[in-house]
Amino acid sequence: MSFEIFLVCAPGLEPVLADECRSVGFAKLRVLPGGVAFDGEWLDVWRANLELRGATRVLARIGSFRAFHLAQLDKRARKFDWGTVLRPDVPVRVEASSKRSKIYHAGAAAQRVERAISEELGAPIAKDAPVQVKVRIDDNLVTLSVDTSGESLHKRGHKRFTGKAPMRETMASLILRACGHDGTEPVLDPMCGSGTFVIEAAEMALGMQSGRERMFSFERFSNFNTEAYEGLKREAPGETELRFFGSDRDDGAIRGASENAKRAGVDGCVLFSRNAVSDVQRPDGPPGLVIVNPPYGGRIGDRKLLFSLHGAFGEVMRSRFRGWRVGMVTNDGGLAKATKLPFKPASAPIAHGGLKVRLFQTDPL
Ligand SMILES: C[S@@+](CC[C@H](N)C(=O)[O-])C[C@H]1O[C@@H](n2cnc3c(N)ncnc32)[C@H](O)[C@@H]1O
Repeated sequence: MSFEIFLVCAPGLEPVLADECRSVGFAKLRVLPGGVAFDGEWLDVWRANLELRGATRVLARIGSFRAFHLAQLDKRARKFDWGTVLRPDVPVRVEASSKRSKIYHAGAAAQRVERAISEELGAPIAKDAPVQVKVRIDDNLVTLSVDTSGESLHKRGHKRFTGKAPMRETMASLILRACGHDGTEPVLDPMCGSGTFVIEAAEMALGMQSGRERMFSFERFSNFNTEAYEGLKREAPGETELRFFGSDRDDGAIRGASENAKRAGVDGCVLFSRNAVSDVQRPDGPPGLVIVNPPYGGRIGDRKLLFSLHGAFGEVMRSRFRGWRVGMVTNDGGLAKATKLPFKPASAPIAHGGLKVRLFQTDPL
């Protein structure tokens, strides 16, 4: 039986995630604020967690009913067949939200559902439980979902070094896709920090599944079928002619990025070097994509210095990178302008660590 699967992503990137969903065969998508929904089955849930690079988590809508007061919520939550998804031996936590509804106290609603789960199914309730049930009450309609991912999906399971202001892998992959990158061209990041863009691009080229190294919450559900899940995993081809380049002026970043690449198993096709942006050279071979997420004012560095850094970056691109496209993620349109690069109109704002950033892109220079 199919149910709604909701893929959460960074607000602003929903259409890009929808595009990725189509590319892996998910259909009849609904692009909604904060994510993408489609109807599917548990196998789709497992595959979405394992394959999608852009989703931050995957929620499964397991039930819904109307409730106009707490006693009704209590009764209907007790009648719900929790055992189809949850296990009596795996601790659960419940989070609730409510809007435009007679039940307005989210804490009391969560407590009723917790009690129903612990008394009817026998599963312990714990604050740090590995399985989370989400209760959303909107216009007196109660929707029950389970978080099938657990830790946010940007945690691929192989990154130890994170650097100063890392970009999340999920967002980096969607930015690469928004730049038209599909794993078939070289990518260069001249301010690579922990190497997120470079490693994501290399994994895409090698056809690796993003979740291959990690565990998911759904592995602790009652309906989990190890054999069927293992059948979804595939060996990556493991070879590409393409090369992915990262540089940074910071020694520690280059050491950390190289270790991250090694743990991810992409060290055969990535090259990291310590270089200031003004020393970056065009790699031999076909043109591709330069992608960069320079320091932001207020976070690292000061705005005046940032103007000259962006000017130098633009000059290097214009003089040495003919034929390459440039994508730049920044929260400051003035700094993008300082590059003097022929950017097309910027993307819609994208939520990034409490900031709103935009993607600026050029055609081939
Ligand atoms: C916002 S961070 C990039 C984070 C990166 N995208 C990641 O996911 O880890 C900006 C990076 O620019 C580097 N940087 C600043 N000025 C530079 C310069 N002149 N040349 C090269 N790198 C520079 C910093 O060392 C820092 O690692």
